[in-house]
Amino acid sequence: MNRLKDKVVLVTGASSGIGWATAVELAKHGARLALAARRADKLSELSKLLKTETFLVPCDVTDFKQGRQAIKAVVKTFGRLDILINNAGLMATARYHEQDFHEVERVLRTNYLGAAVLIHEALPVMLKQKEGHIVNVASIAGLLGMPYMAAYAASKFALVGLTDSLRREYYRTGVTLTVVCPGSVDTPMAVENLNDEGLSRLARPKTAEQMAHKIAHCCVNRHPRLIYGDVPGAMIHFAHWAPRLTDWILHHTYGKAHPLGRSRGNP
Ligand SMILES: NC(=O)c1ccc[n+]([C@@H]2O[C@H](COP(=O)([O-])OP(=O)(O)OC[C@H]3O[C@@H](n4cnc5c(N)ncnc54)[C@H](OP(=O)(O)O)[C@@H]3O)[C@@H](O)[C@H]2O)c1
Repeated sequence: MNRLKDKVVLVTGASSGIGWATAVELAKHGARLALAARRADKLSELSKLLKTETFLVPCDVTDFKQGRQAIKAVVKTFGRLDILINNAGLMATARYHEQDFHEVERVLRTNYLGAAVLIHEALPVMLKQKEGHIVNVASIAGLLGMPYMAAYAASKFALVGLTDSLRREYYRTGVTLTVVCPGSVDTPMAVENLNDEGLSRLARPKTAEQMAHKIAHCCVNRHPRLIYGDVPGAMIHFAHWAPRLTDWILHHTYGKAHPLGRSRGNP
């Protein structure tokens, strides 16, 4: 695993959950880390735990100027950027027609456009180095649309599409991309779902540390895609071949178990 030794890695969403655990995991491999999120206090708390060189880049990825500036600051500090892990994310569940459209926009801006702008700024740096890896943390919901998660799923589908397209566009340039699609992971983002009596019966969450271990493995092996979690990868293929049956299954399992589905008294 010491292929990560001295690599310069920027992790967004490092102040919590999967991002925090990924920073801890990568530090064990001797990577030099730039840590990004809005909560600067959490980033310095994390930095104190890590026995590796760290650089804090507090920023809000929904502000494109701040996103571009974060990449520039990392390159100025370390002289390069080897791996960018776009992990910052926001979940919002709602009945779509009742959801405030500003919330829809915020989810798309955080989960998709925030990552897209960092990639836009990082790619020229990596192409010049003839070396670079971008890891985008999407979700199973980016491969399989889920009830009450339309905006979130749309943002993650977009991230999956961006990743796969760019990997094919920059083939053999030395720069590659990975999309990571977790199922449920026990982090503050998932806590509401995991504490819900209906949904907790369906989910067998992974820990953030298990997820981080897989992400580090992707960084070493440059896998194109990782699906990891409680929804079997086979379900994605099944949905492709049997879309009507998949609608029925997801409506009667996740849709009915969800608090919004229960309150509606789904048919
Ligand atoms: N947990 C799950 O079940 C699950 C499943 C599939 C995929 N994922 C994905 O995994 C990623 C990490 O999620 P998590 O579960 O670790 O959730 P989490 O514990 O809530 O962490 C989310 C991270 O994103 C950062 N963030 C949110 N908005 C931001 C913004 N505008 N600018 C900069 N940073 C921002 C947060 O930091 P600040 O608040 O400090 O800014 C925090 O560090 C997300 O992309 C999520 O969609 C999670």
